Amino acid sequence: MSTQTAHAACLLEVSGLHKSFQAPSGSISVLEGVDLELPEGEFLAVIGESGSGKSTLLHVLGTLEPTDAGRAVLAGLSLFDMGSKQTARVRNRNIGFIYQAHHLIPELDAIENVMMPLLVRGETRADAMARAEQLLIRLGLADRLRHRPGRMSGGEAQRVAVARALVGKPRLILADEPTGNLDEHTATEVFEAMQQLCREEGTAVIMVTHSIRFARKSDRVLRLHEGKLEAFSL
Ligand SMILES: Nc1ncnc2c1ncn2[C@@H]1O[C@H](COP(=O)(O)OP(=O)(O)OP(=O)(O)O)[C@@H](O)[C@H]1O
Ligand SMILES: [Mg+2]
Repeated sequence: MSTQTAHAACLLEVSGLHKSFQAPSGSISVLEGVDLELPEGEFLAVIGESGSGKSTLLHVLGTLEPTDAGRAVLAGLSLFDMGSKQTARVRNRNIGFIYQAHHLIPELDAIENVMMPLLVRGETRADAMARAEQLLIRLGLADRLRHRPGRMSGGEAQRVAVARALVGKPRLILADEPTGNLDEHTATEVFEAMQQLCREEGTAVIMVTHSIRFARKSDRVLRLHEGKLEAFSL
């Protein structure tokens, strides 16, 4: 058997990532040479102490924060070498974000929130609405399609956020403690829905979590420690 058939193709290749912040007390070095190879469709959990740089890592990989040094290649595209317009386009088409708080737009209802990434990329309202509705129904929200975030439970709003991240069929989901604000039962529901949908679509996930339970249900666990990602077994 050749090694090519034994391993899934690499979706994201990160090497030598460095990131520091300037603070009044001096420079804080957070990422100090992060390396990562993420195969297509892998569900990866990243754990690490509070302040170890997990959110910073997702922001840098999501092209929301500039890096000081290093390289990240996503599906053949060198993420940090593009102009701002192309970066925004690549982000819209290839990366979905899920945060600890849902970050939905309060004035928009569930369908409208989920349609947003598709409208940004120029799809018609009719197509965007059909896709959003289908995904929300799939996530068990058929009775909440026209609810605004203020009129949803935390778990419902977070499922809408999952739908918004997945509606554009990105190659990669970056999830920062996506169930961190939810009770255990609701967290399990949201986690399982997210994991199942990503598996069906072949979407790779980097999920930052403090939950050992969810880390165990992931394909692989890495720990961010002293500015680097290292193997970790639970
Ligand atoms: N914009 C910023 N300016 C200065 N320092 C920052 C900034 N953002 C983060 N930091 C510092 O970088 C370090 C890493 O922060 P980060 O938010 O990535 O940690 P984390 O691993 O996500 O922690 P948690 O588990 O608590 O969410 C922290 O020491 C933090 O204070
Ligand atoms: Mg964080």
